[in-house]
Amino acid sequence: MDAANAQDPMVPHRYRVAEVWEELDDVTTMSLLPVDGPPRPFKAGQFNMLYAYGVGEAAISISGDPAVPERLIHTTRNVGRVSAALTRLRAGDMLGVRGPFGSDWPVEDQKGRHMLFVAGGLGLAPLRGAVCQALANRLEYEEVSLLFGARSPDDLLYRSQVAEWGAFSGANVEVTVDMAARGWTGHVGVVTTRLERILGTSDPANVSVFICGPEIMMRFTAQDLTELGVPASRIWVSMERNMKCALGFCGHCQWGPDFVCKDGPVFRYDQIGKRLAIREI
Ligand SMILES: Cc1cc2nc3c(=O)[nH]c(=O)nc-3n(C[C@H](O)[C@H](O)[C@H](O)COP(=O)(O)OP(=O)(O)OC[C@H]3O[C@@H](n4cnc5c(N)ncnc54)[C@H](O)[C@@H]3O)c2cc1C
Ligand code: FES
Repeated sequence: MDAANAQDPMVPHRYRVAEVWEELDDVTTMSLLPVDGPPRPFKAGQFNMLYAYGVGEAAISISGDPAVPERLIHTTRNVGRVSAALTRLRAGDMLGVRGPFGSDWPVEDQKGRHMLFVAGGLGLAPLRGAVCQALANRLEYEEVSLLFGARSPDDLLYRSQVAEWGAFSGANVEVTVDMAARGWTGHVGVVTTRLERILGTSDPANVSVFICGPEIMMRFTAQDLTELGVPASRIWVSMERNMKCALGFCGHCQWGPDFVCKDGPVFRYDQIGKRLAIREI
């Protein structure tokens, strides 16, 4: 690591793309290797600022397993200039990485409880590391469940890994789609229609929930869970806002009294529920 990189969090570290997987039509996952220093540890739920040289930076969640920091994994959907450049990268290409930044999913603190993950669409990407972490210690939780919803079967992310989690990891996995397609034999309906079932016989007071997906999905899921008896202080959500510095300086990501880059992106629902109920602060 050179001296400038060691001192200035605005200077990206150089990384090389090791592998790329086409996940969906507009979504790719890549694994990255550091060029100028050792891999930096991260926590599940944190994000990096990825810099596509000559184009710009975007906040992208870290989707790898925190137990394997040498494999830095990012999943990106092509929605604009920077993400388009990131999804075009191929093995051997270089990019800049700043981070990791932000708060994390408190996976360790939920031991002894029913750990429920609720993901909507690309929202599984920021949750993936936390799912890996909980499953690595499966027996320390009363139960580990994943409820994963997508618009259609073609929009299901990490399909083979989700199937593996369901088959071999001791997790209770349910996948549902808003609109079925020919050949789909799974559940149809939004994730909130499956909440009661996935809670099963667990005492709702002993359930902890991490939710990530579109804001409207997180809002309704958290509301329904509290109505089913899950304490608001045991529900966490991951927020997205436009990022620039990622260090709490520029104010781009301000959300009420918080900066999403340093106070979030993972927030406890009892602390932000009222704000989440208001469209676009
Ligand atoms: C903490 C965090 C984690 C993220 N993790 C991921 C991830 O793992 N994978 C991924 O693909 N994307 C992720 N994003 C979203 C990504 O940073 C934005 O989509 C980014 O703006 C893409 O840059 P762009 O130049 O390609 O698109 P832009 O030109 O910036 O924007 C394209 C479109 O997206 C809208 N938009 C931009 N930023 C946001 C935002 N933050 N929330 C809602 N709409 C927005 C714009 O209004 C525009 O319509 C994350 C964002 C945050 C804050
Ligand atoms: S991105 Fe600058 S304050 Fe959060």
